[in-house]
Amino acid sequence: MLNRDLRAHFLLDPEVRFLNHGSFGACPREVFGVYQNWQRQLESQPVAFLDPLRGMADWMGQSRAALGAYLNADADDLVGVPNATHALNIVLRSLPLQQGDEILTTDHEYGALDKTLAFVAARTGARIVRVKVPMPLVDEATFTAALAAGLSDRTRVVFISHITSATALLFPIAPIVAMARARGIWTVIDGAHTPGHIPLDLQALGADFYAGNCHKWIMSPKGAAFLHVRPAWQDMMIPLVVSHGWQEDRSLPGPMGGTGFVDALSFQGTLDPSAWLTVPAALDFLTRMDWPEVARDCALRVGETAARIARLTGLPPLSADAYRAPQMAAMEVPRTDPAALKNHLWHEHRIEIPVYDWQERSFVRLSVQGYTTDQDLDALVEALSAYRF
Ligand SMILES: Cc1ncc(COP(=O)(O)O)c(C=O)c1O
Repeated sequence: MLNRDLRAHFLLDPEVRFLNHGSFGACPREVFGVYQNWQRQLESQPVAFLDPLRGMADWMGQSRAALGAYLNADADDLVGVPNATHALNIVLRSLPLQQGDEILTTDHEYGALDKTLAFVAARTGARIVRVKVPMPLVDEATFTAALAAGLSDRTRVVFISHITSATALLFPIAPIVAMARARGIWTVIDGAHTPGHIPLDLQALGADFYAGNCHKWIMSPKGAAFLHVRPAWQDMMIPLVVSHGWQEDRSLPGPMGGTGFVDALSFQGTLDPSAWLTVPAALDFLTRMDWPEVARDCALRVGETAARIARLTGLPPLSADAYRAPQMAAMEVPRTDPAALKNHLWHEHRIEIPVYDWQERSFVRLSVQGYTTDQDLDALVEALSAYRF
């Protein structure tokens, strides 16, 4: 039996029932301690610490190596960036798109990235083709067929979330990636929620571009994420900030001792790299604490709680269990004013949880992490059962 008493490992306010790990994660106390040590080192000798050639480039490389081993990726194919939005902006703004090219995507994408897609389309003349994913999501073949139906001979890019934000679905993307690759179409995967949440093998998946956050489910400090790019496209990637690591001829080794790709994208002016340097400590925490076992237990509790709430509302789940993000569930509730319900849960029950409308339906999105207690989940069910929708 799993010892669930993991709350003491986190810095979360004990007065709050924190059911929103999904938005920004939560960093374990000891991982946060490693982060603060990096920051102290920085402030004790800022010049020596931040000079890439006096250790920093190597330390950043150690984080790439640790993450590469965890994700089955070559460390030189990935770079650290502050967040998934940043990584996906690099990709979408670097692709050489032209008037009339098509970007195939879905109606479940994250709002900030929908804006990035619109931004890129407005500047390049590319067209966004948004496929409506057949709901509920119950089988891979229907999902794949819906995306395949959106392809045309102008499709240059498929942009898709691996785990979606508003609907908390685990999209079965492997066949889509394979299909796009066979047709020479770039795949850009928004994996903001996947690292540390589901097993990831980036080599096996074979996506052209994959972005993921470390600060959500790997539980690093905020501001640590990665961009993985297949070698064929690395020279094409233009950083959002051109700085000391940049050089026009990207085939040459980078000026900071890394590859042209790594150096061009890794140095962005003065920034605190401590969150990125803490990624190996966060991965080490997951291993030492046997987090895959913790996560399995969390996934069971998400399923149980979602089923209790579905019995309460009479509203069916958005997908079969296999296509739900293991540690999250977007649960439909009767149509309501989301701000009023959110305020009620917070002010009356001290429950922190996202409540929002999506496609003219109202949802509550539950996240369960190792620190979540059964009392937290009971409190949510009780609060929703007493609420006058
Ligand atoms: C699917 C998805 N993509 C991208 C993001 C953006 O992540 P970040 O703010 O860390 O860039 C999120 C954040 O929740 C998300 O859910």
